[in-house]
Amino acid sequence: MSCSETRPDSACAGLPPALAAVLAAGIPLTQPGLASRCVLLDAGALGTADWSALAEPGQTRVFADGGPQAVRIAAELQRHGLAADTPAARLDGETVVATGLAALPAGAGTLVVGETVRLSPRYEAASAAAAPAAPGGEHYGPADARRLQRLLAGRRDMRHFRRGERIAPETLQRLLQAAHHAPSVGMMQPWRYLRISDPARREAIAALVARERDATASAMGERAAEFLRLKVEGIRECAELLVAALPPDDGTVFGRRTMPREMVVCSLACSIQNLWLAARVENLGLGWVSMFEPQPLAELLAMPAGAMPLAILCLGPVEAFYPAPMLEIEGWRSRRPWQDAVYENAWGEPASPNSAASKA
Ligand SMILES: Cc1cc2nc3c(=O)[nH]c(=O)nc-3n(C[C@H](O)[C@H](O)[C@H](O)COP(=O)(O)O)c2cc1C
Repeated sequence: MSCSETRPDSACAGLPPALAAVLAAGIPLTQPGLASRCVLLDAGALGTADWSALAEPGQTRVFADGGPQAVRIAAELQRHGLAADTPAARLDGETVVATGLAALPAGAGTLVVGETVRLSPRYEAASAAAAPAAPGGEHYGPADARRLQRLLAGRRDMRHFRRGERIAPETLQRLLQAAHHAPSVGMMQPWRYLRISDPARREAIAALVARERDATASAMGERAAEFLRLKVEGIRECAELLVAALPPDDGTVFGRRTMPREMVVCSLACSIQNLWLAARVENLGLGWVSMFEPQPLAELLAMPAGAMPLAILCLGPVEAFYPAPMLEIEGWRSRRPWQDAVYENAWGEPASPNSAASKA
C-alpha cells in the first residue's frame, strides 16, 4: 500500500497502525525538502517489492513489522543505491532505535527509512547508542579502502612475542568470531580451533615442532645451516596457542565434488586469514606454524578419526611488527612483484600494458 502525499498531521482514526506508530515516534511521514511522499509496505510483501523505486530519494519508507528483516531491507536498499547512512529507525512500542540504515540492528517492530527519521527527537540519542553495524550492511569509502590496503600490507607472520602476556577473553572471543565469519565451501564451516591452555601440552607441541624443524633442515640440502638460523615459531613465548583443525568430513558435496580435500583446506585457510587480520587490527601478532607431523598432534589433542590439525597458531602481543616478511629480512626469499602473478588469457601470458596488471 502506498500513501502518497501523506501529511505529518494526518494521524486519524483508521490510519494503519504502522503509520500511527511512526507519527507517535515523532517522525513525520512527509516533510518539505526531505520527503514528498510516504510508502507503506507490509513485511510479507518484501519478496515482490520494487527496490529500485523504494531506493529513490525523497520518500519515507515504512515497513510494517519489518524490524526482524532490517538487515535484508538495508541490504536491498543499499544494493539499489540508497546511502548506508540514510537515517532509519525501528519502532517497537516505546523503544525507538534510530541510526544510519546500515547500522540498524534487527529486532521486533516497524521499520522506517528516510531523511524524516532525522527529525525524531529520539534520533540523536538513539544514534549515539547505536549498535554495531549490521554485518555486510556497511558502505565503505576510499579512506576505508586505503586503511584496508595498509592492514593487508602490514600483516606479518610473527615468531617473536612478548613473554608473560595475556590476551583478554573478550579480545580472544572477537578474534575467534572473526575467524568464524570466513567464507567456506557449501557453507561447510570446516574449522575447529583448539585453545591450548595446558602448559604440558604446549611443551609437547613445541617438541613436535622442534623435531620437524630438524627433519626439514635435513631435507634442505645446502641451505640447512642457513635454515636452522631462522626462527620459525614462537610457541613457548606467545600469549595464546591455538591449533586450527579440519573436523571429520561431513560429506558436503556442494562446491567440492571435484576437489573435496582442497576445498575444505581452502575454507580453513580463509578462516585463519580472517583471524590473522583481526589480530593485526588489535595490534596482536600471529604466527602460522606448519612444521609438524599431523598424526602425533591429532593424538596429543585427542582428535577423532578423520579430523586433522592444519596449523599451529601463535598469538599475542609483540614488541614490534617486522617491517617486512621475516624471511625477506633474513635474506631467505623475497616477495615477487605482484604483476608476475597475473597472466592474461593464457598461462604465462603477461597482462597487456593497459590492463590492471600493467607494470607501468
Ligand atoms: C600455510 C602457511 C604455513 C606457514 N608455515 C610457517 C612455519 O611453519 N613457520 C614459519 O616461520 N612461518 C610459516 N608461515 C609464514 C610464512 O613464512 C610467511 O607468511 C611468509 O614468509 C610471508 O611473510 P608475511 O606473512 O609476514 O607476509 C606459513 C605461512 C602459511 C600461509
